[in-house]
Amino acid sequence: MWKDKHITFFITGGIATYKVVELIRLVQKQGAQVRVAMTNTAMKFVGKATFQTISQHPVQTGLFEQVTSAPVAHVELADWTDIAIVAPATANIMSKMANGLADDFVSTTLLALTAPIFVIPAMNVHMWQSSAVQRNIKILKVDGVNVMDPDEGLLAEGYSGKGRFPENTTVMQYIEKKITVKNYSNLASLKNKKILITAGGTREYLDPVRYISNRSSGKMGYAFAEVAQTAGAEVTLISATKQLAAPNGVKVIYVETVTEMMTAVHNNFDKADILIMAAAVSDYQPVQFENHKIKKATQSDKLILELQETPDILKSLKNLHTNQFVVGFAAETEDLLNNAKGKLRAKGADMIVANDVSRHDIGFDVDENAVTILQPNEPNIQISKENKKVIAKKVLEVIAKRFA
Ligand SMILES: Cc1cc2nc3c(=O)[nH]c(=O)nc-3n(C[C@H](O)[C@H](O)[C@H](O)COP(=O)(O)O)c2cc1C
Repeated sequence: MWKDKHITFFITGGIATYKVVELIRLVQKQGAQVRVAMTNTAMKFVGKATFQTISQHPVQTGLFEQVTSAPVAHVELADWTDIAIVAPATANIMSKMANGLADDFVSTTLLALTAPIFVIPAMNVHMWQSSAVQRNIKILKVDGVNVMDPDEGLLAEGYSGKGRFPENTTVMQYIEKKITVKNYSNLASLKNKKILITAGGTREYLDPVRYISNRSSGKMGYAFAEVAQTAGAEVTLISATKQLAAPNGVKVIYVETVTEMMTAVHNNFDKADILIMAAAVSDYQPVQFENHKIKKATQSDKLILELQETPDILKSLKNLHTNQFVVGFAAETEDLLNNAKGKLRAKGADMIVANDVSRHDIGFDVDENAVTILQPNEPNIQISKENKKVIAKKVLEVIAKRFA
């Protein structure tokens, strides 16, 4: 995506300015050509010389500075740009952009741009939460500007909160997804749909430190969340894993056990248009939870665990079902299609996505999968081995047809 693209970085005066040096290097490594414009305040954080050297272009800061032979420098740079990245974006530049202010080189060039603009804000949590900043972000989004959510964590001020500049690789992924959004035209009917997704392997505790679980990594559910969010859906992810980074813009509810997952699904089901149950839930849980760590028995070398069935989330929705489109997963190691067909009938789902988890190259805990889609009164659709994001997109395309 980056190869031979003209990327202009608009650098404004925040503490995260130094992080953009590395971000520029990363997009250059992918084959992009980079030019930089800076505000006067940005230069107080990192000098012009640094950006001039890494971009191998003169860096323009003043409207009347003559750094190239172009008669109107801001228009020349705006026309040259394929993708504009405002990073770090201060509260101040967002306010200017939202109001069409053009009183320096950066804001004037941004106003003259027709290329897609990506704003990567970073600031103090209280600034971020202020009504003015949030109001400006809303305006920018309505104007078609892409505004990324900052990360939560330790801020330069020494306390934690939302406002950190995200990891550079996350910034790149965010932009890549949005730029390839044209390829998401088959998912157009999912725009603004409320999609509830479960992910990961649940844990059933025997005692405070031990649990029964499975090899599910959650990657399939997270891939659904990422693709659906990129397609413009409003995504809530109920996650039984904390090992994966939450896709930008997706609301995540963390759970551990089947019972917690079921409560979270029930709490969000009535608002949902689509439910995708990609989590691998435990089928059994211990009959008894021991409040203290189970001690090694002195009398016997055996410990017999008594297990009981966990509640069946899919089945439990049968009576709550209104218009939601419900997708279940069947992870099987044998007789895949027959078992999946049985599940489709028994659980009242609109679709079952069946995957063979006996293979080590697909399914659990790897990046690839191969699935068969089963729907009542429809021929099965087979999707051969692909990256999980591609699988998620193909399954979502089938779902999107039902909403078109
Ligand atoms: C030490 C210091 C750190 C700052 N960090 C930030 C920041 O991270 N985000 C932000 O929006 N403003 C930050 N500011 C405030 C901006 O620098 C200030 O609003 C400035 O007017 C922004 O100018 P610009 O948008 O033209 O670059 C900081 C100011 C100082 C003195």
